[in-house]
Amino acid sequence: MIQRNISKAKLFINQSVARVRDVSLSRVFIDSIRETSILSKNEQSKSPAWVLFAREALRNPRTIGTGWASSTRLARTIANSVPLDDDALIVELGGGTGIVTVALLERGIKPENLISIEQSASLADYLRQRCPKIRVIQGDALHLSDLLGEDVHRVKAIVSGLPFRSLPDIVKHGIIKQIDNILPKDGSLVQFTYDLSGRAYIFTKHFKYISHKMVWGNLPPARVDIYHPKS
Ligand SMILES: C[S@@+](CC[C@H](N)C(=O)[O-])C[C@H]1O[C@@H](n2cnc3c(N)ncnc32)[C@H](O)[C@@H]1O
Repeated sequence: MIQRNISKAKLFINQSVARVRDVSLSRVFIDSIRETSILSKNEQSKSPAWVLFAREALRNPRTIGTGWASSTRLARTIANSVPLDDDALIVELGGGTGIVTVALLERGIKPENLISIEQSASLADYLRQRCPKIRVIQGDALHLSDLLGEDVHRVKAIVSGLPFRSLPDIVKHGIIKQIDNILPKDGSLVQFTYDLSGRAYIFTKHFKYISHKMVWGNLPPARVDIYHPKS
């Protein structure tokens, strides 16, 4: 078991290194530096965001799904896909180090209307420090309804950064079911993926595809899809 996890981690590192070589190192470092620079002195003395993220990715390659956080450009494209509504509750799944969370706040989502769910304890702690005004829940999106409690009735949009392509089938189907049950008829699901093909069957089976945007400047290039519940 340990041996298998080590092999998986090695494979993940090799693939990540190859991807960086193939494209370009500069984007990653520019974003990492930008990420680090917005932290307070106290936070900078601890691990910078990209180190924390990479460490978590090595520990849990399947649940993190990538070696580094989204770029600011991708985060803003995701945030701009979320409808603005003063009373609506927005739930982010897989907040990570908070790059999308911050973009959502910059878009104008009120902190009291934003909840971020993050499975990793260290990433959730980091997110709480970075965005102290929002509610960060450390937990598994598989139990989304229970985690949200009474707030479940106020949800208008779900913004997912979860790596559905690498999550085990049982987990991804369970999470999709939760999203499907929670989203109201006029609600939105915003999901990003590195699969640019648009053949995300798991989503189109449950949700109505509305539109998408490509973010070529992300490393690797990404696609942001908007879905509505099927009526
Ligand atoms: C690809 S990273 C995205 C992080 C961040 N949103 C970004 O765009 O950089 C996926 C995140 O989802 C979290 N995650 C994975 N499975 C989860 C689950 N079942 N419940 C909650 N969070 C989960 C991981 O810990 C990780 O922080």
